[in-house]
Amino acid sequence: MARTRTPRGPYVREARLDGPAAEGWPFTIPAVRALADGAVLDLDHPVTVLCGDNGSGKSTVVEALAAAAGLNVEGGSTNFRFSTREAETPLADHLRLVRHPGRRPADGFFLRAESYFNVASEIERLDAVPNSPRLLPRYGGVSPHERSHGESFLDLVTHRFGTRGLYVLDEPEAALSVTGCLALLARVTELAEAGAQFVLATHSPILLAIPGAVIHQLDEHGLSRIAYDDALPVVTMRAFLAAPGRFVERLRSDAP
Ligand SMILES: Nc1ncnc2c1ncn2[C@@H]1O[C@H](COP(=O)(O)OP(=O)(O)O)[C@@H](O)[C@H]1O
Ligand SMILES: [Mg+2]
Repeated sequence: MARTRTPRGPYVREARLDGPAAEGWPFTIPAVRALADGAVLDLDHPVTVLCGDNGSGKSTVVEALAAAAGLNVEGGSTNFRFSTREAETPLADHLRLVRHPGRRPADGFFLRAESYFNVASEIERLDAVPNSPRLLPRYGGVSPHERSHGESFLDLVTHRFGTRGLYVLDEPEAALSVTGCLALLARVTELAEAGAQFVLATHSPILLAIPGAVIHQLDEHGLSRIAYDDALPVVTMRAFLAAPGRFVERLRSDAP
């Protein structure tokens, strides 16, 4: 959480892959192959957003980033060490984060939509340990198990996240309504302007519009910085919303 003596972010300047590409997954992913061939993932901004179609490698990259930053790859902070499966992040062994010297975040959290349930269970388990400091008040005071998925995410970013943290979020919109996405945009903007650093993977045109966000798109060619108006989710959603009926008709007539 915010501590006045902790320098403001961004804390991580870039991510690079050390060593040559190995055989097999994840080096079969074009974006990972590009990094192995020397591309650098520029993260030197308060907010960096990764977008790209399903399977383009966003989760693979953000998981490796989280692991390289010392966060629990299944979700949670540096203090969470639970594991429910053999987490496969072979990329983390190769990924090197280049940090700003003298700037260490005071806090960190990796939010994965699909495994936040396990984070909630871990909070309850840790809070049941006698004489341990209670975690729940830092998450808004209500167990995430007693909130909707989306409400628990908003509790997390509202109460638990601070202005001196490094936060990695994988598709946080998965649980959120449009209004919820707008609330997340507002909170991320507020924290980033005050000194926090965010790296998000998202399909949400709303989250891509976080003011000042630098967008990298992952596709079959690798990864490249892209303007908001050219990002795939924005282009596709605009075309759809301009004429939903016609869009669906075309989709159906194009279907094999
Ligand atoms: N543990 C794994 N072993 C082998 N292939 C995987 C594994 N996890 C993901 N993949 C594959 O890697 C590719 C990228 O996956 P992922 O990073 O989850 O994509 P995204 O998050 O962009 O949808 C996909 O083709 C997926 O099937
Ligand atoms: Mg993913």
